[in-house]
Amino acid sequence: MKLAVVGGGSTYTPNLIDGLARLRADLPLTEVVLIDPDERRLDLVAGVSRRILRRAGHSARVTTSTEVELGAAGADAVLIQLRVGGQTARHQDETVPLECGCVGQESVGAGGLATALRTVPVVLDLAERIASVAPRPWFIDFTNPVGIVTRALLDAGHRAIGLCDVAIGLRRHFASLLGLEPERVSLDHVGLNHLTWERAVYVRGEDVLPRLLAEHGPSIAERVGLPESVLRRLGMVPSYYLRYFYEHDAVVAEQKVSPSRASVVAAVEDELLRQYADPTVDTKPDLLGSRGGAQYSEAAAALLASLFGDARSADVHVVNVRNNGTLAFLPDTAVVEVPATVTHTGAQTWPTAPIPPLLAGLIGHVSAYETLAVRAAINGGEDLVTEALLAHPLIGQVSVAEHLAARIIAVHQAHLPWA
Ligand code: G6P
Ligand code: MN
Ligand code: MN
Repeated sequence: MKLAVVGGGSTYTPNLIDGLARLRADLPLTEVVLIDPDERRLDLVAGVSRRILRRAGHSARVTTSTEVELGAAGADAVLIQLRVGGQTARHQDETVPLECGCVGQESVGAGGLATALRTVPVVLDLAERIASVAPRPWFIDFTNPVGIVTRALLDAGHRAIGLCDVAIGLRRHFASLLGLEPERVSLDHVGLNHLTWERAVYVRGEDVLPRLLAEHGPSIAERVGLPESVLRRLGMVPSYYLRYFYEHDAVVAEQKVSPSRASVVAAVEDELLRQYADPTVDTKPDLLGSRGGAQYSEAAAALLASLFGDARSADVHVVNVRNNGTLAFLPDTAVVEVPATVTHTGAQTWPTAPIPPLLAGLIGHVSAYETLAVRAAINGGEDLVTEALLAHPLIGQVSVAEHLAARIIAVHQAHLPWA
């Protein structure tokens, strides 16, 4: 099986390689091709990736390419993990919205829309070029905003599944609190990418979430960055991305006096690349654990094993897929983030238990925004950008939407094909 990694020069890649090496018994991987326009990064990342596989005794080849059609030819699966404009553009996503008192985040609110506008055209172009040289590959999208990018890929007719590591991280946390292996724990995870809640935590069919909240409330609250009172009130665990909604103004006040996450990450990336250049480094560096996506390799490798492994059993993964009736109040065409059974034929979801209005209101609101975000990213133009912002629950005011639309277009012009 051949895996193409678009954005293979990412400093996250050794993490992915480590995950693939661990799952080698479950995944018949023969080649990983790292595709990236940045040759220096490609060399450094491919070097350490080869050393990690060699150390693990894995026979898969690691190849590189700066040309997507060459690299992806014949690929069975394509992992998309790119960031258009890098940390420089991300810094704008995290700071421009603050001008209007709105949260600055690369996947949420106005910053999330800016990311979508830069990213969707690039990903669609790459996917089309890849589909011309590979027979109906599976696209696995890690690129933010994952819900919007996955939806654009599906709308364009590709086989795509969106992935995020929020659920896998929480599963690990709950398992460690319970003193269990993560495989023993499953989640009733519901919502949209970066807008999710854990409604239940199952161990052998029993929901242990009430007990977890009673015994470990402070630890779980700290993990998701929200007050314990919210968890108790809901009887659920919101992901830490819900902090941008439930504590919006407090986050804005913090962001106004803190360095952007982009600037912190840029420094971590420089140090990681320095380590990758060291020929004695043949494991993933501990420093990778300080990145938000530290667990993404686990999610990706496990999903690939279900799609391509020799399927003894159908595994459940939390994925981003078409709604198709999963959440009864959303259109079928929406993309939702829920558990699904994954086999060689793809991901199969099941209808969720009724969603309480407190969640349904926000999910419906943001899902409608996502529809408009896809439209704005594909068609371009200040009117569509303004409309998408107006539809977002964290923006919503005309003067703010108009100001931020103009600013986003001005700041990211070089990355907007229509501007
Ligand atoms: C989590 C999110 C990812 C996001 C990452 C950011 O893993 O699920 O979608 O890209 O955090 O981490 P960073 O270290 O770049 O802030
Ligand atoms: Mn994510
Ligand atoms: Mn231009």
